[in-house]
Amino acid sequence: MEKLKRVLTQIAYNNYSAPFHYTPLLPILSFASKLYGFALFLRHHLYAFGLFKSKRLPVPVISVGNLTWGGNGKTPMVEFLSLLFSRSGICPLILTRGYAGGDEAKMLKRHLAGTSAKIGIGANRAATAACFLNKYGYTDHGGPLFSDKMYPIQEFGSCYNSLKIGVVILDDAMQHWSLSRDVEIVMVNGIMLWGNCHLLPRGPLREPVAALERADIVVIHHADLVSYAQLRSIKSRIIEVKDTINIFFSRLVPCYFFEAKNHSSTLPLKLAANTIVLCVSAIGCAEAFVRTIKKLGALHVDIMDFSDHHIFKEKREQYWESLGSDIRRSDYLRYLLS
Ligand SMILES: *[C@@H]1O[C@H](CO)[C@@H](O)[C@H](O)[C@H]1NC(C)=O
Ligand SMILES: *[C@@H]1O[C@H](CO)[C@@H](O)[C@H](O)[C@H]1NC(C)=O
Repeated sequence: MEKLKRVLTQIAYNNYSAPFHYTPLLPILSFASKLYGFALFLRHHLYAFGLFKSKRLPVPVISVGNLTWGGNGKTPMVEFLSLLFSRSGICPLILTRGYAGGDEAKMLKRHLAGTSAKIGIGANRAATAACFLNKYGYTDHGGPLFSDKMYPIQEFGSCYNSLKIGVVILDDAMQHWSLSRDVEIVMVNGIMLWGNCHLLPRGPLREPVAALERADIVVIHHADLVSYAQLRSIKSRIIEVKDTINIFFSRLVPCYFFEAKNHSSTLPLKLAANTIVLCVSAIGCAEAFVRTIKKLGALHVDIMDFSDHHIFKEKREQYWESLGSDIRRSDYLRYLLS
């Protein structure tokens, strides 16, 4: 399974041409992508003709989504928005599906502990929302929150300090149309962008790029890890789809290391300077992780990358297999010992 995911990722992000030995897979993948595209088309029209209905919540709804799989800073953006709202005295409710044992939801819970943010986990977001709105109550300051006039968000603080839910943030809901939203934010990975531009499973796209038409805001993530020229070209590709879209840039800034077994035990970043680092990851974009560690001044960085949300087991051998093919186990040990 791990291997299949790896091959699919390689095809999806190997711009325009697949590695030669995978070419027999391509017709099958293309056919599957067409089927997927058709299902998407059908679903879209069922909503457009009102056969499926979007439910409207009594508070403003912000959706944070992605067009492609993995690594586009969606969860950090959800966290950022939640902090912003809760510091301003507006209590946010995050609705998330809780993938893969809910590792992201657990991380959000940890990072948002002690704030007014609430996290609802469940595939049926409308039902989860109803449950939370019932339990905690809600206040609607939708008017001023989303009016055309720009307010600095802090201004709300004094008048709206309330434990009642004031805003809903949908995590990974761009394709989840059963709840209607007031603001649609789409995260784009500046490093990998849209890969080979095919729909799933041949490519990384969950929807055609034209779906950006529905977005109000696009955030180009990892903006610090790509060149200025690349950023400009990404920007112009987005504006081609919708010229009124608001474009922002984001980056992740590391703060400290922590012990895996004790999150409150932190270590300074300078620990990585002038050392050999092995990056073990199971995230959407390991490339960004590696580049960030290199920026900390590591002497040599190696990578052991598993697919997004991989659940680690204790068996050691398999970790060695996933080491980059250019460095084998014995070489690696020799390197470490030299
Ligand atoms: C969208 O991105 C998130 C976070 O990177 C990821 O968990 C989710 O699986 C992605 N969606 C798909 C269908 O890949
Ligand atoms: C975790 O780390 C903190 C800070 O270093 C320390 O005070 C605490 O005792 C540690 N907890 C455990 C269970 O080791």
